[in-house]
Amino acid sequence: MTSNNVPPEIEWHINYDSQKSESDAEYIDALIRLFSRKLGCRLDSILDVPCGNGRLHDFLRAYGYSVYGVDISKELISQARRAHPANDLEYSTGDMRDFSLDRKFDVCLSWFTSFGYFNDKDNIKVLRTARSHLKKDGIIIIDLSNGEITTEYFKANPKPVFIRERSDEYVSIERPYIEYENGVAYQVRNESIYRKRGRDLLFIKMQRLSRLRLYSRGDLEGQLAKAGFKVLRTFAGYSFKEFTESDKRMVVVASKK
Ligand SMILES: C[S@@+](CC[C@H](N)C(=O)[O-])C[C@H]1O[C@@H](n2cnc3c(N)ncnc32)[C@H](O)[C@@H]1O
Repeated sequence: MTSNNVPPEIEWHINYDSQKSESDAEYIDALIRLFSRKLGCRLDSILDVPCGNGRLHDFLRAYGYSVYGVDISKELISQARRAHPANDLEYSTGDMRDFSLDRKFDVCLSWFTSFGYFNDKDNIKVLRTARSHLKKDGIIIIDLSNGEITTEYFKANPKPVFIRERSDEYVSIERPYIEYENGVAYQVRNESIYRKRGRDLLFIKMQRLSRLRLYSRGDLEGQLAKAGFKVLRTFAGYSFKEFTESDKRMVVVASKK
């Protein structure tokens, strides 16, 4: 049990169904193969930061990639090690702004809204740290929500509420909102956990999920350029269609040089 007697599964964990992980990995493999052909080089090794519990790794390894995962959460890294005993040395805890491995990789993967957790100065540090772990022909792949669509959504729905049954015993209520700092929009996600008691809900605790810098395509491409990357393509996620402003997600591929 964790604080306030909330069982660990009620804390924020990455528990997507394995079908989504399999189809994500299939798309990532197709992307990497496309850029391997375009760039005329082999792209065999992947650094997945942040990797969560490594939900993509069995699938990516089955395609033949070597995969190394870094995440700040000790709990998620130990889950990843337990789930991948044959590769348990291929994981470490670290802060994506500032970690150092004595290896370089062909691909750095920032998957499923895993970039933009900080202000711009620190977000650029994340990109520079990723870049420092790439081989000379390496690429970075970033999968993010389109911040412009998110901002429009909040204009139309200023006070959204999401209620989720988390178990027979617990319910979470999330009221996300947008805040501005120095003219930059951030989406803040907190959730309150309640224990069911008859027809009532007993407040247990509030937990921070994320504070995410909302990127337009131009913002993200600009930050990649500042960090020394060259943007190769921006796709509508998860497709091979060129991104347009009306797409909900974007997948940006950029090279180290
Ligand atoms: C939305 S999850 C996505 C994880 C993974 N990319 C996936 O597709 O399942 C974001 C992850 O970022 C991790 N994280 C948050 N802040 C971090 C930091 N400063 N450094 C490294 N990981 C961080 C969290 O622990 C969480 O696992």
